[in-house]
This record gives sequence, C-alpha cells and structure tokens, in this order.
Amino acid sequence: MAKKKASTKKPAAAVTAEQTKPAPAVKKEEPAAKKAEPAVKKEEPVAKKAEPAAKKEEPAAKKAEPAVKKEAPTAKAAEPAVKKEAPAAKAAEPAVKKEEPAAKKAKPAAKPAAKKPAAKKPAAKKAAPKAEKTVAEQPAPQVEEPKTEQPVQPVESAPAQPVYTSPRRSVAFIGSECHPFVKTGGLGDVMYALPRVLAQQNCDVRVILPRYACIPQKYQDKMVYRGEFYMDLGQTGRSYYVGIMEYVWDGVVYDFIDNQEFFSAGNPYIGLVDDIPKYCYFSKAALAALNYMNWIPDIVHCHDWQAALVPVYLRTLFKDSPVGRAKSVLTIHNLRFQGIYNIPTIRYWTGLPDEVFEMGALKQDYVNANMLKGGLAYADRITTVSNTYAWEIQTAEYGEKLQDHLRYHSYKLRGIVNGIDYGMWNPATDPSLAVNYDITNVLQHKPENKRALQQELGLVQDEGKFVIGLISRLTDQKGLDLVSAVIPQVMDGNTQVVVLGTGDKEYEDTFRYYENACKGMFSACIQYDEARAHRIYAGADALLVPSRFEPCGLTQLNAMHYGTLPIVRETGGLKDTVEPYNVFNGAGNGFTFDRYDAGLLLDAINRAKTEYFTSRYHWDEVVQRDMAKDVSWENSARQYKDLYLELTPW
Ligand code: ADP
Ligand code: GLC
Repeated sequence: MAKKKASTKKPAAAVTAEQTKPAPAVKKEEPAAKKAEPAVKKEEPVAKKAEPAAKKEEPAAKKAEPAVKKEAPTAKAAEPAVKKEAPAAKAAEPAVKKEEPAAKKAKPAAKPAAKKPAAKKPAAKKAAPKAEKTVAEQPAPQVEEPKTEQPVQPVESAPAQPVYTSPRRSVAFIGSECHPFVKTGGLGDVMYALPRVLAQQNCDVRVILPRYACIPQKYQDKMVYRGEFYMDLGQTGRSYYVGIMEYVWDGVVYDFIDNQEFFSAGNPYIGLVDDIPKYCYFSKAALAALNYMNWIPDIVHCHDWQAALVPVYLRTLFKDSPVGRAKSVLTIHNLRFQGIYNIPTIRYWTGLPDEVFEMGALKQDYVNANMLKGGLAYADRITTVSNTYAWEIQTAEYGEKLQDHLRYHSYKLRGIVNGIDYGMWNPATDPSLAVNYDITNVLQHKPENKRALQQELGLVQDEGKFVIGLISRLTDQKGLDLVSAVIPQVMDGNTQVVVLGTGDKEYEDTFRYYENACKGMFSACIQYDEARAHRIYAGADALLVPSRFEPCGLTQLNAMHYGTLPIVRETGGLKDTVEPYNVFNGAGNGFTFDRYDAGLLLDAINRAKTEYFTSRYHWDEVVQRDMAKDVSWENSARQYKDLYLELTPW
C-alpha cells in the first residue's frame, strides 16, 4: 500500500525512494491573507551543498578520502572543541582548531548581519559546570526582550510560572522545524508548543534549529550572536563553520545553527541529495554547540530522521565529551520519512565508525544506510505521537519496513499523544477570525464565521449549508484519493467543501477542477496560509481527515477546539483523539470509519450530514463537548517529563 508515491518526488537523488517531507509551504498563489506564517517560501532550488562530488558518486570520493579520514580519528576529535574563547569548558572539547584558517571559505558569508557584539565571547561559560543550571544563569548570551515579540497569531499563551513541581531537568530539543520560524506541518507545531509547556513544568529547555535563510527577517533580527567555532565533518577533510545565533522567548531559548552553505535554500527540505549532508552536519553541529556553550542537558530530545543521528553521534564520536553524559529520546513524528541513502555517502558525511553501519543500527540493506533506523537503535527511549501509532508501526502495514527493528526495540518505545497550544489556538482571542467566540456563544457566532468564510472564498453565502473543511499537506498519507473519489456524491447542493493545502500536483489539480466544476460550492485554496487555516477551523461545520496513516494529526484537535466536528479514519492519533459519535446515546466527538475505503468515508460524511440536518440539537451538543475537551499539552508534556525523570533518576 501506500508507498507508490515515494518515488515520485525524488529528484535526482539516486538511491532510495526515501523522501523528505514535501514542503508544502508555500506557494503563494492565493493572494489573501498570508500575513502570518512565514512558512517558507519556495524558492530557488539551491545549490549549495558543498561537496557535490560527495553525494551519489561517493565511491570515488570516498576513496579519495582515506587519508583524510584518519585525521579525524575517532571520537572526540570530531568535537568542536574549540574556539578560542571558551575557556574552561573548552578543555573538554578537543578537536576543532579554533579559527581554522584555510577552511574558512566554508564559512557562510552569511555572517549574521544581526548583532554580533564584539564581546562575543561570553566569558561566562566557566561558570557553568553542571547541567542543572538554568537559562537564566547562562551568562552572556543576552537576548533581547523576550515577550513582546509576537509571532504570528499566537495570542499570549499561558502563565510563566511553573505549575508542576517535579524535579528540574534540562532538555535540548533538536529538530528541523519550529513554528513560527519555519513550519511545513505538525512537527513545527510540536517543536513550538511542547518546549513552552515543559518550561512551565520545571524544565530548562533549549531548542536547537537550523538557521535557514528562509526564516523571516523579523526573527532573524531578534537573534543574538552567541558564538562560533569550526567543526570537522565526516571524511570531507574540511572544517565547517558553526555559528550560534540565539533568541530567547517566553522562557525557551532557541539556538540557531548557522552555516549558509547548508541552510541557504528557500525551503528546509529540498531533496535527499541536499538534505542528507545538511542534516548530518546539523545533528553533529547541534551536539558540538552544546559542548561549545557548555550547556550540558540531562536529556537530548531529537525529532524525526533529520535529527536521528544525534543519539548515534552521542554514543560514538561524542561519548567522551561533556554532552556524552546526556540521555537521548528520539520521537517519531512520521515513520514514512527515514533519511535513507547509500552507505558510502552517509559514511562520508558522518565519519561514523564501522560498527554503526551494521544491520542492528544504520544498515538498511546491502546498499543503503538509514539514519532513522540508526537513531532508533542508539536512543535511550523512543516515543511516537500516539499510542495507536506506537502499536501500528510494529506491523507490516504501517511499519515502513522498520517493523521488525521497532519490535526489537519496543521495550523502549511508547506513544504520547500530541496536544495543541491554547495560546495559538483559541477562538476567543484568535485575531484571524471574523468573530471571536467561546463555548458559551459558539452557537451564535460560528454561523457568522461561516458566512465570513463563504464571502472570503467566493462561496454561496448561506449559513444553512453544511461546510466541510480540509486543511492538509496534499500527499498520499492524507487519504486524498478517497476524498477525490467521493466528492461528486458529497456535492448535493446543500454541502460546501473548502480545501486548503499544497503538495502533490495530482491532488492540487483535482481540487482545482472541482472548484471550477462546482462554482460557489467548492473552494480550492492551493496555498499555505496560516491565518486562513484558522478561519476555516472556525467557519466550517466539519473537518475531514481520512488519512491512510496518521501518527497523531493536529488538525482534528484544532477543529474540535473550534467547535468543528472531525470526520476521520480510525488510525493512529485520529483513533486516539476522536471518539466515534454514538447516535443512540449522543456520546462521542466526531464521525469515524475504519477500513481505508471510499465508500466508508462517504458513509461517515453522510452520517455527519444527517445529524447536522435532522438532529441539530444533538449536533450542537457535540460542538460544545468538543470545545470543552482537553486537547492541551498539559497532560502529554507531563508524560514527557516523567519519561525524562525515568531516564535521570537522581
Ligand atoms: P502533518 O504534520 O502530517 O502535516 P498535522 O495534522 O500534524 O499534519 O499538522 C498539520 C499542521 O499544519 C496543522 O497545524 C495545520 O493547521 C497546518 N497546515 C497544514 N496545511 C496547511 C496549509 N495549507 N495552510 C496553513 N496551515 C496548514
Ligand atoms: C507528523 C505526522 C502528524 C503529526 C505531526 C506532529 O507530521 O504526520 O500526524 O501530528 O507529525 O507530531
């Protein structure tokens, strides 16, 4: 099943069918709102990538390297060590020669235009021995005023004071995207929301991200230069610049790894040819940066394949460096993407020792290495974003060929369902909406939002119509073949459909076709538009999420919180978060179907319509029940905190 599409988008990547996320982000066709999310504008294909040769043709390259390789012998050698300033701490890190003369060219011209205070060297670091120290104690890296900064629509979130009193732990989040800096899907939401809640639950949190050139200038301007050093990388024989730009916001410290040679594209994900070297560099640079800053966390929490090498580096090249004492957690947000490429190339870019390329770790088959697979083997704990998905991925149907590996490591695997950020998603304060509302007046105000949405999208303005929303990356994962199969039967004159998304061309074109064929009743917004997404959650009656697989899914949570009933397939997090509506006793949160079948999807939509048109009183009860349902991060963040404590029982 499924995998057909995998091959489609692969560029020239050679090898595997693996793929990075589609990168919906951005096509700005629709004029509209856009104001908010940067999300990433698509742009030039990009060139960068330093070692062109290295990629696919590695064999050649590689041999060239032998000499080189040894010079980065082992372990710590790799470590940053360096830079001139870091006094004390530095001692620990070996390797990198400070200013690295020659290599320099590698350095990104992109030196942060931002403020690079002469006093870059936070003399301070000696102060910071153990991991316990809090951000506040952190020396120099001054940041500017935190709060004030209002990213997107997030309306002020929660309180700043701790609400949970378990022992303090320090955690470094490492991942490839984070709202509002860069986001292509739910990973960006989680990287934004979870650290903030953990900060309130007595965690000292630092989020480490690539400093992509596509991060909106207003955030780039807020970043403060924190330091820089050079780091060797794999068998490249070169030293690579690692700049650290810092931004502190609402109790969370964001450290952006700067190197324009890798991060200058207009989109975080381009294709494996570029992405493999990029994330080999990023994962290593993230650990090296922690050593450099002498901020040694109790836990390194990595996300998806882009950061999956972190646990591997941690137990090999970095094991004798300060950060080597941290425990690691690897969270799978989407098993479909694994970071698979041929072994010589990954060996070239990582410089990892031979034992790592065995079947129990990175080795996928005779030809390929799999970065996620390696991370799963080396991580101290594995989590995924719902209980059902944690179980599903151990089966052949959902395991993406890693089911055996996951079953082998199942003793350290668990599911923790995602939540949503109540500051960012709050219909009572959401600045994007036509009319704000809460559970007490949703029945009056939701229709007004519906009419405003119909007007905005050029649909027939009639609050009596049943409006179904679909907000999604347009890929096979999301069950869009089922949707396109049933649209003709759904369009009955009393139903309107609003699609917001970008992705595979076949789906974009299908929805454009229906917009044209069903004028005034079907709207295809082929774009990435955060503010419009908020208005659809508020204005629609129901939201469709018929996914083929769904690790967690956030759109159904957003929808429920806005009083919009989800129509979902019972898989992954959809199954865990949406209780099927029971016509006999009125219980439940939405409409569900189990097998991946267009007829069953249509049946679920029809059940929803029937309830809406013939039993509005009961429908309205579910609207209010969904708004009252706790889909916040509180409980799940607590489970992560417990997991951290389990790993650090002192
Ligand atoms: P996934 O991570 O698989 O894409 P999720 O449901 O976990 O799916 O998260 C999707 C997130 O991206 C939600 O916050 C959703 O509102 C947002 N989103 C998806 N597509 C768009 C779009 N075209 N415009 C604005 N937001 C979008
Ligand atoms: C992935 C999954 C989605 C999940 C999100 C955040 O993109 O596809 O189901 O909600 O990550 O964890």
